[in-house]
Amino acid sequence: MKNILITGGTGFIGSHICLVLLNKGYEITIVDSLINSSPVVIERLKEFCKSGEKNVNRINFEKGDLRNQDFLSSLFETYYKKGLKFDAVLHLAGLKSVKESTQEPLKYWDYNLIGTINLLKIMGEYRCTNLVFSSSATIYGSKKDNTLIDEYSLINPINAYGYTKATIERILEDLSKTKNQKWRIASLRYFNPVGAHYSGRIGENPLDNPNNILPIITKVAAGLIDELKIFGNDWDTPDGTGIRDYIHVMDLAEGHLISLEKILNNEFKFIKLNLGTAKGTSVLELIKTFEKVNKVKVPYRYCLRRDGDVAYSVADNSLAKSILNWIPKRDLEEMCRDSWNWYKNNPKGF
Ligand code: NAD
Ligand code: UD1
Repeated sequence: MKNILITGGTGFIGSHICLVLLNKGYEITIVDSLINSSPVVIERLKEFCKSGEKNVNRINFEKGDLRNQDFLSSLFETYYKKGLKFDAVLHLAGLKSVKESTQEPLKYWDYNLIGTINLLKIMGEYRCTNLVFSSSATIYGSKKDNTLIDEYSLINPINAYGYTKATIERILEDLSKTKNQKWRIASLRYFNPVGAHYSGRIGENPLDNPNNILPIITKVAAGLIDELKIFGNDWDTPDGTGIRDYIHVMDLAEGHLISLEKILNNEFKFIKLNLGTAKGTSVLELIKTFEKVNKVKVPYRYCLRRDGDVAYSVADNSLAKSILNWIPKRDLEEMCRDSWNWYKNNPKGF
């Protein structure tokens, strides 16, 4: 049984990936500092294993920060000695708030870049050179003509968060060219992950105030926030509100599993792929869909544009579809339903 290290595995996307990997029979080792997640995720993941008896033993959890080199050295050494060396790493740990990154850029370079360099160094030392990295559509910056963004589009981040991701991709590209180490790397550029597992047992649970739209919409629908502030109705889009490519987190998680298996099969050295649905949805369309499928009201008000926003960000996902043989299966209604179901089952989070 292969042991996969998942950094940031108790976070929103990481927890769903863990579930998909467990269902496929992998042993998983989660490393997370819990700066933006809860240890209850581990208990929830174990619930899914109950029917599979011994499967509970396939989940290891180590609390720690990737910026701490001693922690990483001892982690790799301990698992190596136990005969549980890591066959691959899915690296999700990092900070992700665009807004915060513009206010505290050094924090972002520290968490995202230093954490990643520490991880890559120790992976090299232990000859664990299979990696799936969480990149972001934000590295593309803005496109003037509102057309689909493919992987060859200009890399032009407009905030510190985006720069950390673009810089890490550059480092990964350099590593993939080294002759003495056999790196196999997939950098997955997520568009806008939303939704939750249909069971309502795991979902998005930011510990700080959410910035992303879906967690805010659920709070408005629940009456915890009076109204959604729509950041601009004067964008160059049909209804004037921003258009994004929302993708169900389970589709995203399945994209990771396939990427991982292709890497383990040695099918490519370095690949950068957009994970999105290629369908654009405006803020108004998102609100309407959420209201319709969940039979709730989401009051809103137009406000000024938010700094760093773009009008349109939608993936050309044809490369991921052809290389991974992967198709996002869940539509916007399912994303809205699962987000609300997660919230209703866990109004206080984990
Ligand atoms: P999240 O905050 O829910 O998960 C990230 C996890 O990493 C958290 O559990 C946090 O505690 C942990 N972490 C952060 N810094 C750490 C460190 N130095 N050491 C150990 N653990 C640390 O975020 P998410 O939405 O699950 O995002 C996962 C990854 O995907 C991130 O790298 C993010 O940049 C990327 N991404 C997210 C989105 C999105 O909209 N959610 C979009 C594109 C890319
Ligand atoms: C951005 C990045 C994405 C990154 C993510 C991390 C771009 C194009 N995308 O997502 O790659 O991973 O941040 O956080 O840079 N909105 C409102 N009111 C709100 C919140 C949001 O109107 O209260 C609107 C935004 O203006 C935007 C849409 O909703 O049009 C989605 O916003 P959000 O969920 O924050 O994600 P992005 O900013 O697209």
